[in-house]
Amino acid sequence: MKFPHLFQTLKIGKLISANRIESAPMSVVNTTPEGYLTSENIAHYELRAQGGAGIVSIGESLVHPSGNSHDRMIPLYDSRCLPSLITAVEAIKRHGALASLQLNHAGMRANPKFCPEGKVYGPESIESYVYGSPVIKLDPEMIHSLVEAYGDAAEMAKLAGADMCMVHGGHGWILAQFLSPYSNHRNDEFGGSLENRARLSLMVIENIRKKCGPDFPIEFRMSGDEFMEGGMTQEEGIELAKILDGKVDILHVSATTFLDKEASIRMFPTSFAERGCNVYLAAAIKKVVTKSLVCTLGGLDAPEHMERILAEEQADLVAIGRGLLADPYLPHKAKNGLESDITPCIRCMLCISNNFVPYVKYATMLSRCSVNPVIGRELEFSALPQPKSRKKVLIIGGGPGGLTAALTAADRGHEVILCEKRGVLGGALRYATHPGFKADLRAYTELLIQRVLDQAIQIRLNTEVTPEIAREIGADLIIAALGAELCVPAIPGVDGEDVYLATALNSYEDLPGKKIVVVGGGLVGCEEGLALAQEGREVMIVEQLSAAAQDAPIIHWKAMMKEMRNMENLQLLLDSTCFKIVPKGVWIKDADGRERLLEADAVLIATGLKANREAAEAFRCCAPAFRVIGDSLKPAKIVDAVWGGYSAALDA
Ligand SMILES: Cc1cc2nc3c(=O)[nH]c(=O)nc-3n(C[C@H](O)[C@H](O)[C@H](O)COP(=O)(O)O)c2cc1C
Repeated sequence: MKFPHLFQTLKIGKLISANRIESAPMSVVNTTPEGYLTSENIAHYELRAQGGAGIVSIGESLVHPSGNSHDRMIPLYDSRCLPSLITAVEAIKRHGALASLQLNHAGMRANPKFCPEGKVYGPESIESYVYGSPVIKLDPEMIHSLVEAYGDAAEMAKLAGADMCMVHGGHGWILAQFLSPYSNHRNDEFGGSLENRARLSLMVIENIRKKCGPDFPIEFRMSGDEFMEGGMTQEEGIELAKILDGKVDILHVSATTFLDKEASIRMFPTSFAERGCNVYLAAAIKKVVTKSLVCTLGGLDAPEHMERILAEEQADLVAIGRGLLADPYLPHKAKNGLESDITPCIRCMLCISNNFVPYVKYATMLSRCSVNPVIGRELEFSALPQPKSRKKVLIIGGGPGGLTAALTAADRGHEVILCEKRGVLGGALRYATHPGFKADLRAYTELLIQRVLDQAIQIRLNTEVTPEIAREIGADLIIAALGAELCVPAIPGVDGEDVYLATALNSYEDLPGKKIVVVGGGLVGCEEGLALAQEGREVMIVEQLSAAAQDAPIIHWKAMMKEMRNMENLQLLLDSTCFKIVPKGVWIKDADGRERLLEADAVLIATGLKANREAAEAFRCCAPAFRVIGDSLKPAKIVDAVWGGYSAALDA
């Protein structure tokens, strides 16, 4: 066995997990209005058990209505949640995984909109950091009711058949609000020393033990460091672990607190963070605890890496969140020597951005994954009917949409011809992967290409397909995935010598000189500008609008803006229009109408894309069935290209 530590069984109290991989709690937000899991939600969780995770945690479930942070949370205080919960737990357990349920109360971070009488509670009377509403200080009597609520909720989880529970004591929810010196300034037995601040957590644990018995393991999720001024430090995190040692079965060490508006960058480590950037927090705790198991997570998805963490005794088990959305079969693949076929999470942050309140004003509330079109649609695609006959599918364009279409069609037994006009596959992914922080996307691109090479797919590179050629091929289905072209603005001087198009750049070495002006501050312009600044160039990004990269998933956007702010050699000029390019410079006009020259050795144009729709349409009548996908339909994101390719190929 290549990963003996990862696939060693793990004893948790009297339970045995088949391996050391836990599917991290990831809530779904499209439950019923009451918060009950739907068949789609159940299929979503079940897939991770099918994929081989030893433990599958169902995300944030509510212990009391007053702690509702994002609506539609599973109401563990209401026994009407049982039918769907029992079904979910059964679905997880029937694949041999242990089912766990996360218990939570949002405290002062509850959204008053979703709480009875709009009232929210916390360790002290202040204004809610997130919603600005008044927070009611919990008095000792209320604290005791809250403790009972946690115990009752655990009892409900147990009744539903869950093997264990995870108490959320991190990320700035109510237990963490009491634990953190940032949010707890009480001067009673629940405030002051760490022992006092930990009292509520200990009472909760004790109440769960009382109601569920010793054989119902408790995992305690904590922040090993809140990374916030005035918050819990790593030293305090270690002391807290010592207090909890032996009282809980697993210490699950995450990081940061939602009380810090930028915390999500490290809580769900973005592509700017090292994979496993929080492992050292668990490792330090593992050194000092003797009774509880220690779990680590944060950007983990490579079996070699996780194996090393376990072999070096930095933790007893690992949890994976986004990596199991990108590839729920990661555990099975790693166990069976297929690790090179694991789809990497590209950490685009789509799964935890626009679908979630309170990150955005109107959340989509749907689970989606850029690289796994099945996520959020598990039920729909769990039992696809086999194609009635073998068809010939012609795919024009070898970008992410075309590659996905080719793979899907070939997987379903069709004859596939993939034509690409360039000499390489990858399409827009080729230029999108230049920045150093795009290593995840590079790995994904290489994997897609490798999969296509390994399949029985006829690949024709350097082949510009014409309608005549397409007709000659005689396909049953043509999928046009021709991508998009850069919209080159009609600015005088744009055809100058030192002007480069972002989509045509092979490498940053192509750009001469030190000073670079990037025209266009969308996602592409910002990423390219940031990467160039990280290379040591002096960069100015010129954007017409008053906000940059509004097309980025919100958490990626936050992380990118933070990186950009930290670069002294990078300036983002908003509300500024480039109206002329001259040798060695770019003329801009700012919001006040002031004109000025920005000196530049090279100008990079990143002003948005235009779909190759017309070129795609030329193939419409060349086969009985025809689909246009990806950027050639409308310039969009990888998720759209992958979904387009997948769904179009299923129609063959
Ligand atoms: C879509 C999504 C939903 C999440 N929901 C929860 C949740 O309900 N409770 C929780 O404690 N963490 C939640 N998290 C955080 C994960 O459990 C995990 O801590 C985080 O994603 C970092 O792990 P990863 O880098 O392996 O994704 C969620 C993360 C994602 C991506």
